[in-house]
Amino acid sequence: MNDLANRVETLHRLLNQYNHEYYVMDNPSVPDSEYDKLLHELIHIEEEHPEFKTEDSPTVRVGGEAQATFNKVRHDTPMLSLANAFNEEDLRRFDARVREHAGKVEYMCELKIDGLAVSLKYENGRFVQGLTRGDGTIGEDITENLRTIRAIPLKIKKPLTFEVRGEAFMPKASFERLNKEKEEAGEQAFANPRNAAAGSLRQLDSKLAAKRRLSIFLYSVNDFTNFHATSQSEALDELDELGFKTNQNRKRESDIEGVLEYIKYWTEKRQDLSYDIDGIVIKVNDLEEQDELGYTQKSPRWAIAYKFPAEEVVTTLHDIELSVGRTGVVTPTAVLEPVRVAGTTVSRASLHNEDLIHEKDIRIGDSVVIKKAGDIIPEVVRSLPDRRPEGTETYHMPTHCPSCGHELVRLDGEIALRCINPKCPAQLVEGMIHFVSRQAMNIDGLGTKLIMQLYDNEIIKDVADLYYLTKDDLLPLERMGEKKADNLLNAIEASKENSFEHLLFGLGIRHLGVKASQVIAERFDNMERLFEVTEEELLEIHDIGDKLATSLITYLNNEDIIALIDKLRAKNVNMKYKGIRTSEIESDSEFNGLTVVLTGKLHNMTRTEASKWLEAQGAKTTSSVTKKTDLVIAGEDAGSKLTKAEKLGTEIWSEADFIQKQNEVDQ
Ligand code: IVH
Repeated sequence: MNDLANRVETLHRLLNQYNHEYYVMDNPSVPDSEYDKLLHELIHIEEEHPEFKTEDSPTVRVGGEAQATFNKVRHDTPMLSLANAFNEEDLRRFDARVREHAGKVEYMCELKIDGLAVSLKYENGRFVQGLTRGDGTIGEDITENLRTIRAIPLKIKKPLTFEVRGEAFMPKASFERLNKEKEEAGEQAFANPRNAAAGSLRQLDSKLAAKRRLSIFLYSVNDFTNFHATSQSEALDELDELGFKTNQNRKRESDIEGVLEYIKYWTEKRQDLSYDIDGIVIKVNDLEEQDELGYTQKSPRWAIAYKFPAEEVVTTLHDIELSVGRTGVVTPTAVLEPVRVAGTTVSRASLHNEDLIHEKDIRIGDSVVIKKAGDIIPEVVRSLPDRRPEGTETYHMPTHCPSCGHELVRLDGEIALRCINPKCPAQLVEGMIHFVSRQAMNIDGLGTKLIMQLYDNEIIKDVADLYYLTKDDLLPLERMGEKKADNLLNAIEASKENSFEHLLFGLGIRHLGVKASQVIAERFDNMERLFEVTEEELLEIHDIGDKLATSLITYLNNEDIIALIDKLRAKNVNMKYKGIRTSEIESDSEFNGLTVVLTGKLHNMTRTEASKWLEAQGAKTTSSVTKKTDLVIAGEDAGSKLTKAEKLGTEIWSEADFIQKQNEVDQ
């Protein structure tokens, strides 16, 4: 038995080594066949002796049991995105802002990999959980699929507990192979490697994901406690040493001119890469300077993403279709001869409104130039009047709603035409689509088509009806099976537990966005209280303006709305705020307002627990020691941050000091 244990250990070691050589270093020392042979030996041993099967065994690379759904998990810290730059001017403006706040800085230039952001958690050096970005706050647990990505180490060289983030992607070669297979099997091919990667990571059966040959580049460390790095470039080097795959085409540049050179180089060379990139990410290299620059609501001020210019192509405009949105706005959409642009086939594009159509002189039958704004949203740039066929006419919007026939109006100062019939079917359906969307009630599996089917068959008339759906309602629908129906009903049931702000946002009240929903839910706690609120009370809140206050009060006084809320309440849809309250911060705590750095290994709590406790006391935790740091809490092996704190004369506590203080405060 002991021999077998030794053999298993040897197999783990060799397989991990060969894997790292092949997938991370691109430098294999043995042929593939050797890897496969050893892997099969290990699979065989594990089958015979299941006690040797472990979570980090190299055999998990082939995938495991299929799952029913992905669990939703809250990120320890939100996964933000980057602000975009589209030209040299945007970049120079970014540079000027950075220099204004942080002086002259060094930049780290990295390729912007066109894949999906994921977060990987390691505990004591072992890969334990991997999440998608999701809405930035809550992601999905796709650990099983990520384990099959060979470039992700299941075990790293040090027993660290931390989180890394990076971009999972499908290399061009894997993509071509996959699409060829799909075509041969008569299946729909993927539009581009990014979609293929997304589709693969959303496979509930990780055995299928394993076949997709995805890869990853890690680009950030979420928690520097156990790192020595003082800059992004050192952090990436440290990730390399631990066994992670980082992109080696990164380069430090001492100023914006260097950054522009780097961009120019990769704009020309990007075709030669074995994976897709959609731009260049520019980051302030020094971590202290990053801290000084800080964050806006959505993105760091210390980084920007330069997006490559959009590809332009010419196609024909066959027709202009009209759609009615949630708020009754009627939008014209261009129906185009399908054409490939920036990796996908485009057949429709929004024309926004009549004024724009006239400005661009666009007529049905025209040849038009299209591109994808930000490489995502198709847009008609202009028409080519020189190529215009005979008999075309200037386009005019209709006078009546294409959905319900009600007369359309232009509200004061608006360009848009609106249908103001509250019972307009198109608006109701759009409202339901909004209700189930991710930032609202986040109900998976309820797409536009299904909502339209339910509405057209008179199974649902309003959003509350969703909570009255039964399996018998669903099963007769097109393309609906037992399993799909169960999943959908479960997702609907689960959404009842959402915190109040989700419902509030989901109701689609005019001018009420995600942020204001959050503020209002936190301030007034529940629906009963909200019904009593006055316009004056609302206006006292910093983020709330006249338009929103009026719109909210009008909404809450509407009889139909009161009935709708009652209907939701009858099904126990939660109407109470469940998030953290800013007011719960202990404002008289001695930690209030302090900037604290946690470094080194803590033994009695995790770093997240420590930061959460500090944040509840009103302190801010940051990752690097600067002049602005008030306190450093140093665990075991604290390293360079401790040295720095000593040099700056910052107050330093041991974990024991910290626990003692916590006990005093918590009493
Ligand atoms: S840094 C705060 N570095 O681009 C976000 N992002 O919005 C820090 N991406 O969501 C991201 N390559 O998915 C960073 N080298 C790179 C990247 C990269 C691709 C993606 C990432 C992010 C999006 C920017």
